[in-house]
Amino acid sequence: GRGEFHHYMLKEMYEQPEIVLKEGTRPIVIPEALKDSSHITLVGCGSAFYAAWCGKYYLEQLAQRIVTLELASEFHYRNPMVQPGVTIAVSQSGETADTLKAIQYMEQKGQYTIGMVNMPYSSISRYVQYELLTRAGPEIGVASTKAFTAQLLCLLKISLTLMKEGEKKQHVLKGLQQLPMDMQKIFFKASQLQDIAQHLVHAKGIIYLGRGISYPIALEGALKISELSYIHGQGFAAGELKHGPLALIDGLTPVVVVAPMDQFFEKTVSNIYEVCAREGKVFVITDEAGATQLAGVPVQDIFVYPSPKAWELHPFLSVLSLQLIAYYTALHKGCSIDQPRNLAKSVTVE
Ligand code: M6R
Repeated sequence: GRGEFHHYMLKEMYEQPEIVLKEGTRPIVIPEALKDSSHITLVGCGSAFYAAWCGKYYLEQLAQRIVTLELASEFHYRNPMVQPGVTIAVSQSGETADTLKAIQYMEQKGQYTIGMVNMPYSSISRYVQYELLTRAGPEIGVASTKAFTAQLLCLLKISLTLMKEGEKKQHVLKGLQQLPMDMQKIFFKASQLQDIAQHLVHAKGIIYLGRGISYPIALEGALKISELSYIHGQGFAAGELKHGPLALIDGLTPVVVVAPMDQFFEKTVSNIYEVCAREGKVFVITDEAGATQLAGVPVQDIFVYPSPKAWELHPFLSVLSLQLIAYYTALHKGCSIDQPRNLAKSVTVE
């Protein structure tokens, strides 16, 4: 049951530090085929797709692999050409019809198939050559939270396993040990996220911006607000602003910017200035190091989480902040949090 928590979603969000603590140090066994393959394809739908997208950054940057990312619901209809390699299907339920179709297609094309699933004995588990469990425990809330985080972690662990030994690797591993505590600290500051939610609750639409690995996180934040609060959330790559979305900026459309202190920070700050100059109300999600650089920038509000040791760890902290914002916004609006309208936990039709 959900115990003292009002919603399964709240309980599942609170379980995330624990999952990172337990799974972060558990050794992961990956198949030889994955070790040997220079080309990896990641497929998934919805939040699983955004987690896979973050995984692309990890696998490229840490493991130096060539990574193709495919939205499962658009993939198999194309009859695409396929290079030899490994395909990883990312799915909480293991039952998503499109993801299953995609992995079946890849199997027929001679790929080695891996299912990264949260539900053992699921359809995808039974189909693939190798099963990687994300071990988040059953997720009841229709909106994915802890399963997303467990997918991120699993993809990071694979990348670390494939990464060559050295200082950089030790650095990320060290950071991973600190991460559960830092995630916990976000809950201590949840009232600040409630305040942000209070500002968002009357909006017709909300724009989410991010660069680099924060781009898929912005997309995930936009998906969370849409499905939970029924406010139209849309994510854009911050660098795309000038290519169109800037026309949307007005005093009525809040802009949530995911701006961690990483290699993209300064560029993202210049986007914040662009939005502010057009009367846009900006809410920044950043870490302590980023916050010190934002003094004097005319934003509406800043939520600050502890600075992690490595850029790879920001998504865990920023996505948790965005999940909580979506939760509180939906709560203020009186929405059906665990069971949003029109949605089902697993999508078994194409
Ligand atoms: O079970 P799966 O991970 O394959 O599900 C994929 C999507 O249907 C799922 O992530 C969906 O987008 C969630 N409602 C997002 O919160």
